[in-house]
Amino acid sequence: MQMRDNGLGFSPITIALHWVVAALLLSIAGCGIALMFTADDAQRLGLAHTQNLLGTVLFVVSIYRLWARLSSYHPLPVGTPNPVEVIVSRSVAVGLALAMVLLPVAVWLSRAAAGVAVELPWGLAIPTLIEPSVAVQRVVDILFDIGATAFMLGFALHLFGALKNHFALGNDALKRMLGKHVEL
Ligand code: HEM
Repeated sequence: MQMRDNGLGFSPITIALHWVVAALLLSIAGCGIALMFTADDAQRLGLAHTQNLLGTVLFVVSIYRLWARLSSYHPLPVGTPNPVEVIVSRSVAVGLALAMVLLPVAVWLSRAAAGVAVELPWGLAIPTLIEPSVAVQRVVDILFDIGATAFMLGFALHLFGALKNHFALGNDALKRMLGKHVEL
């Protein structure tokens, strides 16, 4: 099995983790929405613990993913995009991968600065390694908001690029990310 990306294609690991990360993000957002509509305390606690667990898995997977992205070749683009499009789309992809490492750290730091541990199911918790501090929490929350906004903008661009390639340009860029072998 091809373990790393090369100039000709993504590895099956990259493809699998790409969609695992997308599914984790969707599930985390789903927990957030469910939390907004749940009044029962026990259910809210269960949802919050599940959301924290999904975020922790996302963080761990994303560390590997960012390292793999930065340390292997990004395959040649499908179709004939101009160099600026290639640079922008690859930079956005790296930015998205980086955000998946930094944003969970910001959430953990913000909770720790508020004196709250990140609680997981089965009575587990991620320890708070810093002292509670209102000032630190305020700064981290601002950084989180900036990072989350940049992530949303980057993700919108990423999605636009994928849909444009698939529907407007009719090439195999999206199908390649779904596992199709594409001859370049
Ligand atoms: C429905 C949602 C998504 C679609 C349709 C999509 C589509 C794609 C496509 C078509 C590529 C291949 C680009 C190329 O050929 O160079 C790609 C790569 C990539 N995407 Fe997405 N994507 C989605 C969600 C995400 C999310 C949520 C993230 C990160 C948080 C992400 C991060 C990346 C990264 C880092 C790459 C480069 C390959 C890698 O290292 O995984 N994508 N995506």
